[in-house]
Amino acid sequence: MKAILVKKFGGPEVLSYTEVDDPQPAADQVLIEVHTAGVNFADVKARIGAYHIKRALPFIPGLDVAGTIAAVGPEVRTLKAGQRVVAFPQEGAYCELALAREVLTFPIPDAISDETAAAFPLVAGTSYAMLARIARLQSGESILLHSAAGGVGTAALQIARQLEARPIIATVGSDAKKPLPADLGADAVVNYRSESYVEKARALTDGKGVDVILNPLGGEMLEEDLACLAPFGRLVCFGHASGQPASIPTDQLHGSCRSVLGFSFGTLRRTRPQDVSSIMNSVIPMLAEGKIRMMIGKQFPLTNADEAHRFLESRTSTGKLLLKV
Ligand SMILES: NC(=O)c1ccc[n+]([C@@H]2O[C@H](COP(=O)([O-])OP(=O)(O)OC[C@H]3O[C@@H](n4cnc5c(N)ncnc54)[C@H](OP(=O)(O)O)[C@@H]3O)[C@@H](O)[C@H]2O)c1
Repeated sequence: MKAILVKKFGGPEVLSYTEVDDPQPAADQVLIEVHTAGVNFADVKARIGAYHIKRALPFIPGLDVAGTIAAVGPEVRTLKAGQRVVAFPQEGAYCELALAREVLTFPIPDAISDETAAAFPLVAGTSYAMLARIARLQSGESILLHSAAGGVGTAALQIARQLEARPIIATVGSDAKKPLPADLGADAVVNYRSESYVEKARALTDGKGVDVILNPLGGEMLEEDLACLAPFGRLVCFGHASGQPASIPTDQLHGSCRSVLGFSFGTLRRTRPQDVSSIMNSVIPMLAEGKIRMMIGKQFPLTNADEAHRFLESRTSTGKLLLKV
């Protein structure tokens, strides 16, 4: 089969379109003919060798796919060849044939298009897990979402609305990205590189601060978040796009009953795959019933994975980027 292979860590140019051996499913795995693969910021981190779950070289990048089951291993009970599925593959997604464990493969109802199927698994799964399970967002609580025009951001905003968060304050890294979160229902959108989101968050919550913050950036912005996190608030760290770690003063936590939490979907799927099933069982009906929509920013052919990575790293992309196989 054809696949994108990373043979050495580096820039987008290390993504090479190569012939590799067809994979064979193990007893508990399915073989998926991939139609579309998601492009995630974690793939960029993996490509440069900075992802927290280290992959040995050479590897096929990518974390989620949509496609059709081509074959199943002898111990697979609930899935069969020919089914449309999404999956979190074992060893990469930028390829024609991917292997995934049965427990991490999910049939897709006809109401969900191929593009939507490919766009949602990681971003909507991560968003739902953080909001419902990690932050335990309650109806009527306020929320601050950073990078709200991106893949996770646009999914998290819509899921927060479904969970009845209010107000929803969104931040973006440029004025050009402001319309998308506004169209999706954010009550305020702030360009965090030129305006104070802390002031806006305080103003919209009567000075109290927000109940939940999702931060994929790390660095100074994580420290700034504490200035607008309400008593009993929960700040979820789920990435470090800024490349910088943050320092959290713990004396600002206990007296105000505030919590700083971490989340990684990669760790969840490796260590608690059953929890992934329960998250997907909540997210898939939201999509099938049209309660949330995947914002597909751009699609690239598999051969142009390097171009997709350049676009994602440019900070000008909005919505979800996909690779058509
Ligand atoms: N923990 C998890 O399980 C998990 C799962 C999925 C994603 N994530 C994290 O969530 C974040 C969003 O992922 P995504 O795939 O949906 O990507 P995305 O949001 O579609 O694109 C990345 C965005 O990050 C922001 N950014 C800030 N500093 C950046 C930098 N130095 N270089 C590039 N981008 C920068 C930019 O938006 P603005 O300029 O508008 O801020 C950029 O558009 C990433 O940090 C990713 O690692 C974590």
